[in-house]
Formats: sequence, C-alpha cells, structure tokens
Amino acid sequence: MIKKINIGLLGCGTVGTGVAKILIENKKLIASRVGAKLILKRIADIDIKKDRGIVFDDGLFTKDAREIVSDPEIDIIVEMIGGKGIAKELILKAIENGKQVVTANKALIADQGNFLIKKAEAKGVDLAFEASVGGCMPIVKTIRESLVGDKIKSMTGILNGTCNYILTKIGDDGSTFKEALKQAQSKGFAEADPTLDIEGYDTSHKLAIISSLAYGMEINLDDIYTEGISRISSIDIECAKEFNFKIKLLAISKNRGSTVEARVHPAMISFDNLVSSVNGSMNAVEIIGDAVGSMVLYGHGAGMMPTASAVVSDIVDIARNLLFNITGRIPILSYQSDKMSNISVLPIDEIHTYYYFRFSVLDRAGVLAKIAGILGAYSISLKYVTQKGLQSNGSITIVMFTHLAKEADVKKALSEISFLDVVTDSPVLIRIEDDLEEEKEEE
Ligand code: HSE
Repeated sequence: MIKKINIGLLGCGTVGTGVAKILIENKKLIASRVGAKLILKRIADIDIKKDRGIVFDDGLFTKDAREIVSDPEIDIIVEMIGGKGIAKELILKAIENGKQVVTANKALIADQGNFLIKKAEAKGVDLAFEASVGGCMPIVKTIRESLVGDKIKSMTGILNGTCNYILTKIGDDGSTFKEALKQAQSKGFAEADPTLDIEGYDTSHKLAIISSLAYGMEINLDDIYTEGISRISSIDIECAKEFNFKIKLLAISKNRGSTVEARVHPAMISFDNLVSSVNGSMNAVEIIGDAVGSMVLYGHGAGMMPTASAVVSDIVDIARNLLFNITGRIPILSYQSDKMSNISVLPIDEIHTYYYFRFSVLDRAGVLAKIAGILGAYSISLKYVTQKGLQSNGSITIVMFTHLAKEADVKKALSEISFLDVVTDSPVLIRIEDDLEEEKEEE
C-alpha cells in the first residue's frame, strides 16, 4: 500500500506558492525518494482566486487557516504567513493538535523560538525552520547534523540578499543607495518593511537562530549588536577596494569559550576571503569547526523557489520520520533541551578587532598629529594612513587602518576626534574582519 502524508499550507504568497509548485510539479520525484506520497491537501490564503500559475485540484483553498490546523487528516502544517501575530497563534494551535510544523518565519523563531520549541517538545512533535536562515543554503541541517561532532569556533557570512545586492550595485555601477534599494525591492528580495533588511535586523534574526544551534545557547535578540548599511557610501567602497577589501554586511559569531561574540554590521573583508566574492543577492557563510576546519555554504538567500526548496527539505525530513513513527529524533535546537548552556553574548564594547576610519578635516598643519595623538592615547595603533584629495566643501579626507583595537577605546577616541575644530564631518568607522591577521597577531 502506498502511504500518504497530508500537508496543509498556511499562506500562499511568494514562498508558499513556490512550495505548492514543488509539491505538485515534483510529486513523483519526491514520492520516489520518500517512499510515500506527499499530498498538498489544503491551502489557506486570504486571496483564493489569484492566478498563481499552478493547476490546483478543486477544493484545495480556504480563507480559514484555523480550519486547516484543526483538520484531523493533516499531518504537517507549513506556515508561510510570516510575522509574529496570527502565524504564532496558528503554529501553537497546530502543535496543540499534535501536528508537525514547518516554518520559514525567522522573526518568530529568533524572537520566540525557545517558547515554541518547548511547546513542540512537550507535545512530541517536530518544528522545522531550515528556510528561516539563508534561503536555500542548508545551514540548519549542516550545523545540527553534518557538524554534530564539531565544536563550532565561528560563523561569518552574508545572510541578507537585499543588503548584499545593494552593496554590490553601489560598488559595481555607482548606483545611489536609494536606487539600489528600489531595484532590490522590484526583484522581490526585500522584506515588506525594508528597514528590517537595511538596518541589519533580518540578519540578526538569522544570526540568533544559527548561534543558538551552534553553541546550545538561548540568545536574546537585544544582545546582538546590529548596525545596518544605510550609512555606507561609495567613497568607503572605493577606499576599501584600494586596499583589497570589499564591504559586506556580515553576521559574525565567534565562540570565545565562556562568552560568544554575536554581531551584525558592515565590515571590510579581504579579496582573499571567499565570502568577499559573494555578490548580488547571494548568501554565504563560512563555518569553522575544530574538526572540519573551514567550510563555506553558498546559495540563493532569498527568492521564491530557492526558499521553497529549503521548506520542502524540512517537509521531507519530517515525512521520512513519520513513516517510521518517529518525531524528535534530532533535537530541534541541536542540543538536548536540558543541556543548553547559559553562555552570554560579549558586549560590543569588549570586542577587539581591526578598524577603518575616514575623517573629513581641514587641510592644515598638525591635523594628522592631533588625530594620531588621540588614537595613541587610547592605545590604538595604526597600520596604514593615507590622505585623499580635496572634497567639494574644501576639506580633505584622511583614511586610516588600525591594528587590533578594543571597541570601547575606539569609540572614546572617535568621539574626542569628532570634537576637534579641524574635523568637518562625523568620522566614519568600519570594522575589518580578518581572522588570519588576528591569529598572526596573537601568536
Ligand atoms: N529579505 C531577506 C533577504 C529575504 O533580503 O535576504 C530572505 O530572508
């Protein structure tokens, strides 16, 4: 007898439609891999008439999502509504009704994942969220399964397609920030509220999820230092290029033993680093484990079909387990729930990294000495200093790259420098991510 697993889809927008498309158009292929038919039994959406370019069986659609989460014939609920309101209510109801749940809802998982996971574990159902981070890249599976024997040392990468698209566009053809954002929106990568993308919050949601999985910790989103790309200008992209760096919005998490660094900000990375060559809306993450060494995942971080591909992989994982009457085989957060640790996130002021500074100053004798004097007083040692030509306002630009320095010292020094009467604009600071150099300095 051919077994059947019934799926209820909540939300048939961009990614939901992609999921329906895969389940319908690749149903034979999937059945031949799973050994059961995955049947898209019901779909809930407020727009049940829209032409989605798919031939659906009659009677699939309803406007009432609650009807689906309470339908005794449905085995797996796929939540593609997004947000923390109705989506959370429906997931909780589905769990209460003993259904397995798949979601791509990064904001909800990052913010309330621990609560939902505890509910799912108590009920003995699975809650899967591969598509919540990095679109199609199998990062959740990689951390939770492939690297299960590794102590994860760090994860550094690009987790927001919109920001990467914008930075690439400004660097490639000199588009303004606004023009590049408009194009990203027209391509469908950006969130409904693009400030979530450009101010870095979408990335910090994703970083919170993968850091919890990697280090077995509960992360409070407010503890992740988050800075977006809206203040990055083409001058900085050009300066970076001169020194063989690219500017990327990076999600960075480092295992520092008793603490974890978890931060999101624009950073310069060397042309030698694979992640620097990741352009457009593509995402990539370098994971360093004590056994595996360095490995990089790369793929479409957003978009209908790549994200849907990740959702379907979760559906198939769950379906395969259901065929053997198993749930909870792999702990949802990768660690046994009683083995989660209470490691804390290192405050941003405590980190040590490399910095790029750009100052607009009057072209007068002694200006450089004044700036260098303040930096020296805070033990900030300089690696390169260069002066650029005259700006239209009569100021000149001074660019500096530092050796390892402490963030708190850097902030104090830049604040003092900004008050100098020869400084004509707010100093610009961009952190530099250079693990190889860091290792050399520590030796
Ligand atoms: N807005 C997100 C991005 C979509 O640009 O990457 C995928 O999470």
